Amino acid sequence: MTATTPSPTFTTQFDTSNQEFLAAGVFRPRSIADIADDLRLLRDGMELVKGVFYVNLKRVTHMNSTAFHALTRVLVDASRSRPELQIVVVVSSVVTWATQMFRHLSELSPNITMEIYDSAFYPGQTFVENQSFIPILRTQTKMTWRHEREILPRHGLRSGMAIADICCGIGDFAMLVRKEFNPARIVALDHSVASLEYARSVADKFCVRDIEYTFGDASQMLFESDQFDFVTCRHSLQIFDRPELLLRELYRICKPGGRVYITNEKNSHCLGEPRADSIQWTYTEVAKLFRHFDMDVEIGPKGSRLLRDAGFEDVKIESFMVTNLDGDPQEFADIIQAWEDVYAGEMAVKRGDSPEFIKRFRQGFADHIFSALHPRGYAGWPIWATSGRKPL
Ligand SMILES: C[S@@+](CC[C@H](N)C(=O)[O-])C[C@H]1O[C@@H](n2cnc3c(N)ncnc32)[C@H](O)[C@@H]1O
Repeated sequence: MTATTPSPTFTTQFDTSNQEFLAAGVFRPRSIADIADDLRLLRDGMELVKGVFYVNLKRVTHMNSTAFHALTRVLVDASRSRPELQIVVVVSSVVTWATQMFRHLSELSPNITMEIYDSAFYPGQTFVENQSFIPILRTQTKMTWRHEREILPRHGLRSGMAIADICCGIGDFAMLVRKEFNPARIVALDHSVASLEYARSVADKFCVRDIEYTFGDASQMLFESDQFDFVTCRHSLQIFDRPELLLRELYRICKPGGRVYITNEKNSHCLGEPRADSIQWTYTEVAKLFRHFDMDVEIGPKGSRLLRDAGFEDVKIESFMVTNLDGDPQEFADIIQAWEDVYAGEMAVKRGDSPEFIKRFRQGFADHIFSALHPRGYAGWPIWATSGRKPL
């Protein structure tokens, strides 16, 4: 059962199956009377459940002291009258005031706890947000851009559009899109503070003021629905353990008739000549390693199905191969070296792989670099670009 009490800027719901009270929006009542229905919904919800009760405030962007005191009073009263009930207040690190405000609740009552859900909310976060990746992301985008600048118009990107690049990383793709496609508005969102700082410093250096770099959680965005003509999300669905949640948000913020464009890899199809067998073995193992951390780096060709399942129509899919021959082969080699450092140097170690495995695993990367730099060699990294239209 789900109950809803809407007000212009604020909504509350009670979700019986998840034992969860969800609030969203701007919570700034003038008096307690303004939020009497919401508080009743909270109280009634708590009376219905046993065990753990969740108060989900991830999408509350603002809260005044009237709301805060009224809410905490209801929670503290309930925790005292029902000491067996565990109350978990879930906030997001994206909304910085919330963690500060609710942190003290457990001092008032030991059976109320606060969780910051996005401090560790996808399994590969520590690897993906690893700062050593920053320079290499730049090289990767430079190499994929040679292909994507021609691919993007086939997927509907035109000048003058409102564009959002979700999971923008260090923001270089947004920068290139801005230059090439002259958007009316461009927003770039990521959850890595280090990447965004880097993005902002580059923009500053180049006197670029019109890219809206935004800190946020892509699976719970604070953007209004139906905002953007073109939404991009590159190399990121593959690192989420539940890509469908992210797709639902991309769909939501896209305008009806607009398009969502995603790129993803299929790592086991990375290839090289000579030393093809060793290279293939290592990249098949890369896919298994990511799986271990609940990430699917084989998503590329599944893009068409994913977009259709998410409700998109007119789905277009194509693949392209970044190769050592696209530009300076050393750049290709640098990318592979960075992958080896993180995959073999950190992830395999964390999984507890043996030194013998890691040695063979590293050899495949070394051979990929060898093939990239060999005067008669060929090395490839395949990528799938998929887009779909949100129905009118
Ligand atoms: C593999 S990188 C890709 C970055 C960029 N799109 C590119 O192609 O270079 C994945 C990015 O997703 C970001 N990310 C992961 N989970 C996120 C979340 N829940 N909300 C926003 N960004 C997230 C990471 O910080 C990282 O920058």
